[in-house]
Amino acid sequence: MTRSKASNKFVLFVGAAAVALLSLYLLFIFESEVKRLLGTRMGGGASQDTVNVFYLFLLAILAYLFVRALNALIFGLIFRLRRGFEAPTLVRNIFSILAFTLLFFLVFSHLYPNVNLGALFTTSAIFGVILGLALQDTLGNFFAGISLQADRPFQVGDVIVVGAQRHTGVVEEITWRAIKIRTFQNHIVLVNNTTAAKEAIEVCPRGNLNARLVFFNTLYTDSPAKAIHVVREAVREADNVSMKIPPIVRIRNLGENGLEYEVKYWLEDYAKYNDTDALVRQRIWYAFRRAGLNFAYPTRTLLVERRGKPTPRDGAGGAIMERLSAVDIFAPLSAEETAMLAQAAVSHVFAPGEVVIRAGDPGSSMFVLHNGRVSVQVSENGRPRTIATLSEGDFFGEMALFTGEPRTAHVVALEETEVLEIKHEAMKSLFDTNPDLVESLSHIISERRQGLLAPAVTQSSDTDESAGILSAIKRFFGLN
Ligand code: CMP
Repeated sequence: MTRSKASNKFVLFVGAAAVALLSLYLLFIFESEVKRLLGTRMGGGASQDTVNVFYLFLLAILAYLFVRALNALIFGLIFRLRRGFEAPTLVRNIFSILAFTLLFFLVFSHLYPNVNLGALFTTSAIFGVILGLALQDTLGNFFAGISLQADRPFQVGDVIVVGAQRHTGVVEEITWRAIKIRTFQNHIVLVNNTTAAKEAIEVCPRGNLNARLVFFNTLYTDSPAKAIHVVREAVREADNVSMKIPPIVRIRNLGENGLEYEVKYWLEDYAKYNDTDALVRQRIWYAFRRAGLNFAYPTRTLLVERRGKPTPRDGAGGAIMERLSAVDIFAPLSAEETAMLAQAAVSHVFAPGEVVIRAGDPGSSMFVLHNGRVSVQVSENGRPRTIATLSEGDFFGEMALFTGEPRTAHVVALEETEVLEIKHEAMKSLFDTNPDLVESLSHIISERRQGLLAPAVTQSSDTDESAGILSAIKRFFGLN
């Protein structure tokens, strides 16, 4: 609570207490003073009834003031200080009615001690039944209102959604008859208490971090990892989006037209969710534009079969060829041989965290990293130990391919990663014409094998190891 709010409450308290005390004081002073005045003015000639009626009228005004002051003191200050929110109108009204009735009884029995009020009420029982029947709905609302107050499922200022018609808005008031909701079109909807007590009510409390979902989609060709990252960053800084919980972006469906996503975000002020939803959508649009992502719209994809194979220099094929010719082990290859290799290479995309190669599996292909990064891991005491991180232009998986042994390590994508797979058959035809290729490979495999061993292990001579691998490759590929 701020300093000025606290001092405001203090002033309110002192004011309300002063009015209440003053009312009480006046009540007592006036009683004796009025009696005295009326007694002298009317010289004792006025009838006692006239005095009493006048007196009753005056006391009624004082009682009214007193009840108002008491109401302000109890609900305007004490209730608010203790509970931290405004007392509902219904509770205040019930309090006032009860207090007035009580004061009325007190004053009436003081002025007319001979009238038996109990008997008066007994004789009016039939009248009460008739009145009760006539006021059935009103009384129903009244009692439903009381039970709502006792239960307190929501408060003034909360956003609620009521019933099958989904009336949505901010609660403005809860009266003895109805709940008053201000909708987001600035209309007032009155839901009577009996209806509200029967219907399901969705409550979005003011002090709560309420969440919203906004949907969007992308083309199937757009990377999910990229879309998720871009949208999360774009949404987290929008106005009214809570910093306490970062937005969550996830794929909700593989739809007919594209990948369907939802972004879940939490709001500081839920009553402004329409504006915030709109702002979030706007941010997504701009972020898509900057990142080159595309919204999906109803499309039909025609798959046209091409006659003849595309030349590797075309489009993606050209990029693959460039990538392979930059890999050092393929340096001895002629342009035709690299083109052949590029044609045989198959591209695969892995999400961050996906396993590309599992240690111990059999393997008959190697991979060249086209985009992204991977980590090479071995298991040590049941925990993964990273022995190398490979990036664009590096290759892996050659050990199992060239020696025929099981995979020696785990290879895991560190980010979205595209690899080019080269199979056994494609390599075999190259070995016949490129003996240098076998030799440089055996050196690399020998070096990598050293890296796989625990640091303390003594290693055999590098040349011996390479020679062993060289003959293993030759044997495995049936070379001379
Ligand atoms: P392979 O055994 O077929 O599968 C796991 C791969 O991890 C392996 O081939 C190598 O390509 C790669 N690898 C193993 N050890 C290392 C290392 N020390 N440095 C780089 N890559 C390695």
